[in-house]
Amino acid sequence: MTSTLLVTGASGHLGQRVIHHLLETLHVAPERIIATTRKPETLQALADQGITVRAADFDDAASLRQAFAGADRLLLISTDALDRPGRRLAQHQAAVAAAEQAGVAHVVYTSMPLPDNSPLLIAPDHAGTEKALANSTLKGWTVLRNHWYFENLFMSLPSALAMGQWFSAAEQGKIAHIARDDLARAAATALASDAAGKTTYTLSGTEAFTTEQIAQRVSQAVNKPLQVVPVPLAGLIQGMVGAGFPAPLAAVFASFDTNTALGRVAEVTGDYQKLTGVTPQPFADWLEHNAAALAA
Ligand SMILES: NC(=O)c1ccc[n+]([C@@H]2O[C@H](COP(=O)([O-])OP(=O)(O)OC[C@H]3O[C@@H](n4cnc5c(N)ncnc54)[C@H](OP(=O)(O)O)[C@@H]3O)[C@@H](O)[C@H]2O)c1
Repeated sequence: MTSTLLVTGASGHLGQRVIHHLLETLHVAPERIIATTRKPETLQALADQGITVRAADFDDAASLRQAFAGADRLLLISTDALDRPGRRLAQHQAAVAAAEQAGVAHVVYTSMPLPDNSPLLIAPDHAGTEKALANSTLKGWTVLRNHWYFENLFMSLPSALAMGQWFSAAEQGKIAHIARDDLARAAATALASDAAGKTTYTLSGTEAFTTEQIAQRVSQAVNKPLQVVPVPLAGLIQGMVGAGFPAPLAAVFASFDTNTALGRVAEVTGDYQKLTGVTPQPFADWLEHNAAALAA
């Protein structure tokens, strides 16, 4: 394989691990890798290893054509721009257009499960990006519909454990969480493969759990009580606003629970193994490694 592989968002949590898996798991030569970021100075360690580091800002379309030049396959890691509705989709559309213009043959994109017609307020960004890929002139693309990271539990569990109460509007909906590092391995595999064509994978963990089931397992692992307190959506939003979240952001976070309650992140698929040839880390194993940090 001689194709040149480009990773956007290479300084982020996921991007760093994608680079790790390209180098260490898949043994891709560093000279074949381009890593982009808005802050190239943060990736000096990668440059020192022989990886080409370039500046790319999805808010600055002109920067993208240069940044993407010479790449054969490109991993478009969705951004974290949730401050303004529509901003993230515009960023991703600019990235897809720049990939077309730069002559990139194949784009891999990090999406979410069931992005169409979703109650999740961030879903239109992913649905719109998938549409941009489908309508593009790119020869091929791979959509990775990534389930939620186990690591997202760090957003709610430390404070819930401190209180002994976990407020939830997810009802009996289950989540098929998966480790972020496993998703990085999947993204690296899709990027480094020679797969052409247009493929969508839904990458879940090995099991799906309700909020109650997660709470029971976490409580046991950290040896602290944790009770799930069911609340209506409005109550959840109110609680977050009371804790200092801006109301629009609280509504976004709360819509994750609505989405869960409707069973939209519960599907356990075999796609992870199909793509990578290995099974993802089970929750029990992830919890064993992260229990102390969750309870800290
Ligand atoms: N499946 C899940 O559970 C889950 C959870 C959290 C997030 N996500 C999504 O997955 C993405 C990757 O996750 P992560 O944990 O690696 O998030 P992260 O550490 O917050 O990284 C976000 C990345 O977005 C890039 N970015 C932000 N604005 C950009 C812009 N204007 N132009 C180009 N790149 C930009 C950043 O790159 P630079 O700073 O280097 O420019 C950064 O690498 C997130 O951005 C989010 O869309 C998924």
